[in-house]
Amino acid sequence: MRAAVFDRYGPPDVLRIEEVDKPVPKDDEVLVKVHATTVNRTDCGLRAGHPFLVRFFFGLLRPKLRVLGSEMAGEIEAVGASVRDFAVGDRVFGISTWRFGAHAEFMCMRETGPLAQMPAGVSLEEAAAACDGPILALKCLRSGGVQKGQRILVYGASGSIGTAGVQLAKYFGADVTGVCTTKNLELVESIGADREIDHTRSDFTRNGETYDAILDAVGNLSFKGCKGSLKPGGVFLATDGFRNLILALRTSRFGDKKVLLLIPPREIKPDVLFMKELIEARKYRAVIDRCYPLEGVVEATRYVETWQKTGNVVLNVNRAKGKS
Ligand SMILES: NC(=O)c1ccc[n+]([C@@H]2O[C@H](COP(=O)([O-])OP(=O)(O)OC[C@H]3O[C@@H](n4cnc5c(N)ncnc54)[C@H](OP(=O)(O)O)[C@@H]3O)[C@@H](O)[C@H]2O)c1
Repeated sequence: MRAAVFDRYGPPDVLRIEEVDKPVPKDDEVLVKVHATTVNRTDCGLRAGHPFLVRFFFGLLRPKLRVLGSEMAGEIEAVGASVRDFAVGDRVFGISTWRFGAHAEFMCMRETGPLAQMPAGVSLEEAAAACDGPILALKCLRSGGVQKGQRILVYGASGSIGTAGVQLAKYFGADVTGVCTTKNLELVESIGADREIDHTRSDFTRNGETYDAILDAVGNLSFKGCKGSLKPGGVFLATDGFRNLILALRTSRFGDKKVLLLIPPREIKPDVLFMKELIEARKYRAVIDRCYPLEGVVEATRYVETWQKTGNVVLNVNRAKGKS
């Protein structure tokens, strides 16, 4: 089968298309024919081996895995002997957070893993982009206890985590301010933000407004700089940065404003099922920026690394079309 592989950490062009062995499902696994997947920031971080910490998990000198890609939508091609919940031909979506492998024509997933029947009424591309950003945003918002009536600011509201953060915070009943660049103001309004701030024109930390939670879905805000924009008891929801780990530990003991840092989640099958329900109830839609064929993986990755994308960048693998 065809797969996008890499054998060393480095820039996007360490990726190349190669013929590799088709995986064989174990007894408790299904073999998925991947129709669509995404290139996300986790793929980029792992491919670059940056931050260095990722190498402690995925190989110190060289990557231990060859195929990136965590999110996917596709069709079950074969099932292991003990699989009961899925059958050949089922259309599924999900995420393989620690094993990756979705940038390939086929991948194996455990039946009990973060995999579910595809939500009705969405395209394969939308289903493929419905796990990574949304589940990270969900974990952040839940850890911060975001709820009805609260005011939340989503910084980076046009990105993968950000577009999910806006929609999920609205779903939880919060009043949402989205911060993005000029070209994305309309998009952020269209996904439900109550108001938008253009970060190229004004600085939200200086407008006198305060929030119960600030979600940094870019990774470049400082808690110190945002403290004055948090209400007493407010939380700073960080997605990145070692400094935030130290601050999370410190503020858990001292001060009434807390820093919470997103730790890459493990047990997420219930979250995939939650997203399926939300999508079917029309409470969530994945924002897709561009779609590339699998062969365009280097170009797609370069685009993601411009930090200019809105929502998600999709790779079409086996070119199936249509809605579930
Ligand atoms: N902890 C984890 O497990 C985990 C996993 C994945 C990602 N992350 C982190 O989460 C963050 C967001 O990831 P993502 O996948 O959502 O990224 P993304 O889709 O690339 O979105 C980032 C957004 O940042 C905005 N942006 C870019 N440069 C900016 C600047 N200078 N000032 C303000 N906004 C800027 C862009 O919107 P505009 O063009 O509208 O400004 C863009 O939409 C990253 O820091 C990433 O490392 C953490």
